[in-house]
Amino acid sequence: MVQRIGILTSGGDSPGLNAAIRGVGKACQARHDMKVIGIRDGFRGFMENRTMSLEGSALSGILTLGGTILGTSREKPHKMLVDGRLQDMTASIVANYHALKLDCVVCLGGGGTQKNALRLQQAGLNVLTLPKTIDNDVARTDVTFGFDTALGIATDAIDRLHSTAHSHHRIIVVEIMGHRAGWLALGAGIAGGADVILIPEIPYDVARVARAIKARKQKGKPFSIVAVAEGAFPHPETAGARAAGGGKKAKAEKAPTYHQADLVFAERTLRLAQQLEALTGLEARMTILGHLQRGGTPSAADRLLATRLGTAAAQLIEQRRYGVMVAARGDSAVPVSLEEVAGRVKTVPPDHPWVESARGVGTSFGD
Ligand code: F6P
Repeated sequence: MVQRIGILTSGGDSPGLNAAIRGVGKACQARHDMKVIGIRDGFRGFMENRTMSLEGSALSGILTLGGTILGTSREKPHKMLVDGRLQDMTASIVANYHALKLDCVVCLGGGGTQKNALRLQQAGLNVLTLPKTIDNDVARTDVTFGFDTALGIATDAIDRLHSTAHSHHRIIVVEIMGHRAGWLALGAGIAGGADVILIPEIPYDVARVARAIKARKQKGKPFSIVAVAEGAFPHPETAGARAAGGGKKAKAEKAPTYHQADLVFAERTLRLAQQLEALTGLEARMTILGHLQRGGTPSAADRLLATRLGTAAAQLIEQRRYGVMVAARGDSAVPVSLEEVAGRVKTVPPDHPWVESARGVGTSFGD
């Protein structure tokens, strides 16, 4: 019997998603003679049984396309808004899986998707996932697709922000995505030559940040770039945190849900810019890169990674290896059980080599 494979994309969109859809789809169709069905808008579309054909030319011309041709959502199978209330719709998804006569469903997504995929595996479906997110915070994989492209976008932004910083002798505070992890801000901060890098994993003291900026000013460099991860926060024991009304709350603050995040993160970034202006006497301006970091065509590295993982997924499906995420490991792609991945966030170890390199060139982490 020809195997029938469903593919869905879930969570935030990311560069490389279409390259991954193409990698899984073309390999399943060409190498393994399988039928591939696109499921629209993540688990919401799966629950509503909304699909699209991926036959014929559907997978042509999408390698370079940003976003996802399938559409996506942040919906969770076990907590879906239906008839005005949150309901567990797992049974509907299981029913649609069988109605579509699927042998397996491939879920392309970040940390949340890995958890939802494990739940569906435990509900009896054959599931396989690929690690997607610009945050690079999925456990047990070297890297996620989307990260390299976002790194390039954020680095280019920092390069451009240097112009106004040195022309106006200003502090430019640039907020970079990453949710609860600092990989994107750390990588782009190093690549873009930021003078200060603030990440969630190293809570900062705004007085120490100001000191680093004033030291640059005394050396004849009255301008600085501060790359701040959206999830970074002042150490709750610092005067800066107390002045900002942060205090214990800043530490205890539960990571906001996405729809609150933009406001919470932006307020904190604006407060940081205001505090630095007051402490250094230099003008400060804030730039929030936001969803620019998720837009446009994927980098060559992300296209390569997404294709590698996608084709490896097709081989694992052929071998009936389900309940796994296809993880990047060096030049290889290896299956890792979903139990090992779900619920874990890969954050930056404070002594990570990247952090040491940044310190090596004099970058301040505000600690
Ligand atoms: O997880 C990817 C990400 O871009 C995070 O870096 C960011 O905090 C979040 O998604 C934004 O979510 P949304 O697109 O739902 O606003």
